[in-house]
Amino acid sequence: MSRKISPSILAADFNNLGRDILMINRSEADWIHFDVMDGVFVPNISFGLPVIQAVKKIATKPLDVHLMIVNPDLFIKPFRDSGADILTVHYEVCNHLHRTLGAIRNEGMKAGVCLNPHTPVEVLQDIINEIDIVLLMSVNPGFGGQKFIYNTYQKVIKLRRLILEKEAHALIEIDGGVNLSTGKLLFEAGADVLVAGSFIFDAEDPCSTIHQLKVI
Ligand code: DX5
Ligand code: ZN
Repeated sequence: MSRKISPSILAADFNNLGRDILMINRSEADWIHFDVMDGVFVPNISFGLPVIQAVKKIATKPLDVHLMIVNPDLFIKPFRDSGADILTVHYEVCNHLHRTLGAIRNEGMKAGVCLNPHTPVEVLQDIINEIDIVLLMSVNPGFGGQKFIYNTYQKVIKLRRLILEKEAHALIEIDGGVNLSTGKLLFEAGADVLVAGSFIFDAEDPCSTIHQLKVI
């Protein structure tokens, strides 16, 4: 499985967002990660559809949209129409997850499910074969720059075992507190995709930092 990097623009310079997206285009990043927050599911508000639409105009990489919102079913088509290629919803807000995943795929997007740190991977055992990407939160959602939760390594190992057992195709993506040391251990534990925000955008040379994450 190829190792992928998905920089989170939550940590980008919003006064120079176009510059940062062009950097990602030039870099070895595989996707661009958007942390959409509604101030209800998480105690923060970030950005929404206009930012996705603007970035879509200049991005050369798939848009990996992480919805930290309630009622995500209402926004599947609007995010598709804005340019999302991957749409990830939180398990904790979906009463009919099987139906939601089908609706995302019917719009032509890859369907992702995100688990908060307290949510065990076992909750996915009867739906894992319907999922394209499982996003594991390695921090409590809502803010960038937080401390990595070390239990995530165990969750990656369990999730990899479940995917193998069910012969599922889901990719394992990790979000929060990713840097060279946590990232290396996450890839070794079986992760496929790393989301990194502050480690990339706070660096002296974000493009080179993406390369370092890609080759750890
Ligand atoms: C939390 C956000 C962050 C962000 C990455 O809600 O989802 O995890 O993507 O943040 P860093 O890489 O700065 O920890
Ligand atoms: Zn995210």
